[in-house]
Amino acid sequence: MALQNTNPSGTVAWQELRAHFADMQYASMQDMFAEDGNRSEKFHIKWNDFLVDYSKNIVNQKTLHLLQDLAKEVDLSGAIQSYFGGDAINRTEGRAVLHTALRAPASANVQVDGQNVIPEVHAVKNNIKQFTDAVINGDRKGHTGKAFTHVVNIGIGGSDLGPAMVTEALAYYQNHLDVRFISNVDGDHVMESLKGLNPETTLFVIVSKTFTTQETLSNATTAKEWFLQHATQTDVAKHFVAVSTNLKNVTEFGIDKENIFPMWDWVGGRFSLWSAVGLSIALAVGYDNFDKLLQGAHSMDEHFRTAPHDQNIPVVLGLLSIWYNNFFGAESEALIPYTQYLQKLAPYLQQGIMESNGKSVGRDGYPVNYQTGTIIWGEPGTNSQHAFFQLIHQGTKLIPTDFIGFVKPLHGKQDHHDKLMSNFFAQTEALLNGKTEEQVQAEFDAKGVTGEQADFLRPFKVFRGNKPTNTLLIDKLTPEALGALVALYEHKIFVQGVIWNIFSYDQWGVELGKQLANSILGEINSGEVKAHDSSTTALLKAFLAKRNK
Ligand code: F6P
Repeated sequence: MALQNTNPSGTVAWQELRAHFADMQYASMQDMFAEDGNRSEKFHIKWNDFLVDYSKNIVNQKTLHLLQDLAKEVDLSGAIQSYFGGDAINRTEGRAVLHTALRAPASANVQVDGQNVIPEVHAVKNNIKQFTDAVINGDRKGHTGKAFTHVVNIGIGGSDLGPAMVTEALAYYQNHLDVRFISNVDGDHVMESLKGLNPETTLFVIVSKTFTTQETLSNATTAKEWFLQHATQTDVAKHFVAVSTNLKNVTEFGIDKENIFPMWDWVGGRFSLWSAVGLSIALAVGYDNFDKLLQGAHSMDEHFRTAPHDQNIPVVLGLLSIWYNNFFGAESEALIPYTQYLQKLAPYLQQGIMESNGKSVGRDGYPVNYQTGTIIWGEPGTNSQHAFFQLIHQGTKLIPTDFIGFVKPLHGKQDHHDKLMSNFFAQTEALLNGKTEEQVQAEFDAKGVTGEQADFLRPFKVFRGNKPTNTLLIDKLTPEALGALVALYEHKIFVQGVIWNIFSYDQWGVELGKQLANSILGEINSGEVKAHDSSTTALLKAFLAKRNK
């Protein structure tokens, strides 16, 4: 079944939300907390080891009801069924969107074109297990008989960001293998990454769904050339494996058929870490941890699929984001994990969120008349507090922020963890309450600041707070919890795409840049600049004049 085609701005709920916004735009969260001592009790969801507190938002019960009405009017429930059921909801590419099938149990039955894909998914998972176990325990060796010590993942976008993010996030669970990631076609990046590697003990994992991506093929070719300086063509089979849907291009590149892990066109690149694209993850942390990651994601899938929408974490967070984006006019959201392990979460989700929902044509084929997409950014706390938090606290922009923290540290450094978490709680409280004139005055009194100096400083020191935040407090950064967290944001993307009436699973804009880059490369190689706008022509000529000297 295709997704319903409803312009959200034409729904009754949207009109009501607009009218309601007029009442809420200057509402004070502090007042709402003061009026209702049970606010946090009402506005939170407990699920497994997640506590999601969304009480620090500029919403009341009516806001939430209207947002839920909007979800009903666009038939979010039907859309969720189509998503999990394998309908070709990626209509512009004629494909199902089934990353959820990658983490479904062996007993599941998910049909694509009349065929249950689950047995195939589990057969590939079994291959991943065999292969990664053999590399980790040293049974599978390099061409001189030595066990592997290093793994280099070569891919870009979804074929890099997910594995790189998870490998770093689960570094606590990592074995002896040193796993590196090469993505940028920048030769300096490639050469820096190859530095210090021993070709006898290095395994290259080339990841490209299409196996046509310029960056990945260039980097893989350079890696192969580097390897061949120390080994022979027949040794390539022992050191190069690939993950792709394009078996023909992979074999043409010179990788043996038995060294190819397949994936499927119903898995979008930016949602593919759960497939064989996660091979580097399984190598880094072992297959069992990789499987736990998938199990965690599956339990979030089940929550999303079955929980009532007012108790459904991805639905609630998705709707709140719509409220700020489409009614308050917020343009970006921040994501602040209070663990260094999640340093790459925001860059990873930038692809998921912005490549998916950065669309301006509705499912009806017409330009949308409302905002879509969210600019997402963030860095771990507390580093980010000392960098850009000033703008969130006192700038003119409204930046709804998700705070993600863990009750337990992994290395048991309780003293550090208590300091880290005190910052975590303090920030959302400060964003809520700001600083009142009385508090500022008390500070002045304590420091003896009086008279003109106090009058001058007062307006800069007083700020009203009322900045919305969600708090996600999770017991511990386990593979399961990480899987659930990532799946949560995947489903939030889906919820928003359904409401915005856009196709979230293509990326035609990115394709144009790729085509142009290829044709400009031809011009750089030939030295003949063709017709461009005057700016591009002048820039290319300036580049070529110096490049060829
Ligand atoms: O950047 C566009 C994109 O198509 C992404 O969606 C994808 O993750 C990335 O390129 C890499 O593609 P591939 O895995 O086919 O090399």
